[in-house]
Amino acid sequence: MKDRRLPAAIEAAYQLVRDSVIEYQGRPVGVVAALHPDLPAANYAECFLRDFVPSGLLFLLDGEYDIVRNFLKTTLELRTTQEDMAGHMRNPTVLPASFKVTRNSAGKEVLDADFGDRAIGRVAPVDSLLWWVMLLARYVEESGDMDLAQESLCQTGLQNILDILLRDSFEIYPTILTPDGCFMIDRRMGVYGHPLEVQALFYGALKAVKFLLAPSPENKTVLRLVQERGRALRDFVQQQYWLDLGRLNELHRFRTEEFGSDIPNPLNIYPETIPEWVIDWLPDNGGYLAGNIGPSRLDFRFFALGNLAAIVTGLASAEMAKEILNLYEARWSDLVGFMPLKICFPALEGMEWQLSTGCDPKNVPWSYHNGGNWPCLLYHFTGAAIRAGRKDLAKRAFDLACERLHADGWPEYYDGRSGRLIGRRASYNQVWSASALILAYKMQEEDPENFFKIFSRNIEEES
Ligand code: GLC
Repeated sequence: MKDRRLPAAIEAAYQLVRDSVIEYQGRPVGVVAALHPDLPAANYAECFLRDFVPSGLLFLLDGEYDIVRNFLKTTLELRTTQEDMAGHMRNPTVLPASFKVTRNSAGKEVLDADFGDRAIGRVAPVDSLLWWVMLLARYVEESGDMDLAQESLCQTGLQNILDILLRDSFEIYPTILTPDGCFMIDRRMGVYGHPLEVQALFYGALKAVKFLLAPSPENKTVLRLVQERGRALRDFVQQQYWLDLGRLNELHRFRTEEFGSDIPNPLNIYPETIPEWVIDWLPDNGGYLAGNIGPSRLDFRFFALGNLAAIVTGLASAEMAKEILNLYEARWSDLVGFMPLKICFPALEGMEWQLSTGCDPKNVPWSYHNGGNWPCLLYHFTGAAIRAGRKDLAKRAFDLACERLHADGWPEYYDGRSGRLIGRRASYNQVWSASALILAYKMQEEDPENFFKIFSRNIEEES
């Protein structure tokens, strides 16, 4: 870190992160989602696994390893204390969406986890375990404490996680099939199927597992599977999700209803499904990965986290990464606007909104998950921009966010086509809005290579 005073906004962001730490039995174990007396939902006072990630990365950079270590162990242990859900075969692999510290009738501190069974809409988080694996890898890399990963708790945890990720299902794609709202977008938004975000995190988690699993004779088979699945996933996503002008032309002229293994339109996408907006919106030199695919289904919406995580993890090729950043530059007012970053573009409106969200008033067009702007995405953007050689865009986004976020009191999200208004139901003092800003700052100031080490290797490379 260069020896100079931190900007006031960064100092304030640090203060918020520090104030949000929660302790269990006298040890720091996580951070709350938001620190405000008037929270939009009771569970914002809990520690969400996905929300903890930017704070965790920050603690690691600052050499505060204990809290990350405690978080990783505590969340893994929570699985084993979870009661079975009626009619479910016990599934010890899913990690909770969030947890809190409470007291039992005897006044003793206990942890209470939400595996989706308390969440609004009852959605189980798929991304929690993917984030967990990546954070563990980053912890080991940064602290040098490989012992934690070697502990039987973690090795068994990793095996269990791989069991669920690599398990056969009613599927032939290398992607994973998930229900609506099982990741950052945790409400119904027409994102069931094979959402890009989950695939990008899956790819990142496979790379992290390669780094974490001891290359012992017992792990040989599973490591081979990880490598093969990772390669198949990467090739499939690059072929089937990618959209640029050339690809759009192909789609436009696709033949359909073809049978066989070597055909250009294996998913049977009908050209009639190409939405009008995308044709003029795609710049000549840009492209992106589509939001979702399935049989005769291509969701053309642009989802920020999926695209950015694809760049950071290497799921997108280097050329694709450049084109995604070119798209950001060309469509800056749509994808960044007044506050980085738009979570997805465009918003669902009218009948589509009714059918896809179930008339969700929180997800009205250009609000919240449905085209709102989320500051917590800033660190992903910074990482992706740096990895794609576009530090200029990282700085441009950071400069937009820095003072305003501080002045506005760290809102969770912003509303409007270009993110001009504070989100109608946004909480203030949203911790990942603050930690994302600090991380974005640090990534620009410090050697950014460190942030991507586990992802810089090719999935084919031997561990
Ligand atoms: C909302 C977001 C989710 C986040 C949670 C806590 O439910 O959709 O991604 O984890 O708030 O901030």
